[in-house]
Amino acid sequence: MIITIDGPAAAGKGTLASNLAKKYQYAYFDTGMVYRAVGLLMHLQNQDLNDEQVALKFAKALTYGQMMELSKHPDFRSSLGGKNASIISAYPEVRKALLKMQQDFSLNPVFSDGTPAKGVIYDGRDTGTVVCPNADIKFFVTASPEVRAKRRYKEFLDKGMSADYEDVLADVKARDERDANRSTSPMKPAEDAMIFDTSDLSIDEVFKKAVEVIDEKQK
Ligand code: DC
Repeated sequence: MIITIDGPAAAGKGTLASNLAKKYQYAYFDTGMVYRAVGLLMHLQNQDLNDEQVALKFAKALTYGQMMELSKHPDFRSSLGGKNASIISAYPEVRKALLKMQQDFSLNPVFSDGTPAKGVIYDGRDTGTVVCPNADIKFFVTASPEVRAKRRYKEFLDKGMSADYEDVLADVKARDERDANRSTSPMKPAEDAMIFDTSDLSIDEVFKKAVEVIDEKQK
């Protein structure tokens, strides 16, 4: 079983994906990690993120293990990490170079300890359209920029990081703009995706709706 969950930053995809992965005992691939890993590597090595050829070199050399190691770095999930990922993810060749690692995961999905899983949940921007166009179930999770900025702002404060709401909102809007308007694999719902707007739905309500769809499919 392959399930894809796409949508903009801070819409609730990650929470939904990890809750579903736990319930159904499926492996989980957060595909934003491949872009965050390349962006962070370039940042740590003082490389120019605007240089597409350098980004491509890093993307071609990235391994799954290296990505998991990098994910422990404090800037992997920071606002800077998200911004850097968004910049390099706009390069078509970089996306192409990182596609195989994402697709291969569904051929042999494993949990973080290496044990095999009988299904996989992807989350990202193009997992239902480009990474796994033949997925069994596709969800697209969205919410207004203001609602998403409030959530991100609260997350930063909860983690003890300093943040300014207006800056977070501007950042959310800038990332939406880049993610939705890039030439290759722009963020958009797959034609056969079920759309959830979480502006007025709680995490529990979205989870229940998704479970109904998955259980129905598994009958
Ligand atoms: O989901 P995230 O915040 O970790 O994603 C970081 C950036 O990576 C996001 O701004 C766009 C990019 N991304 C992408 O282009 N395609 C994906 N499937 C996942 C993320």
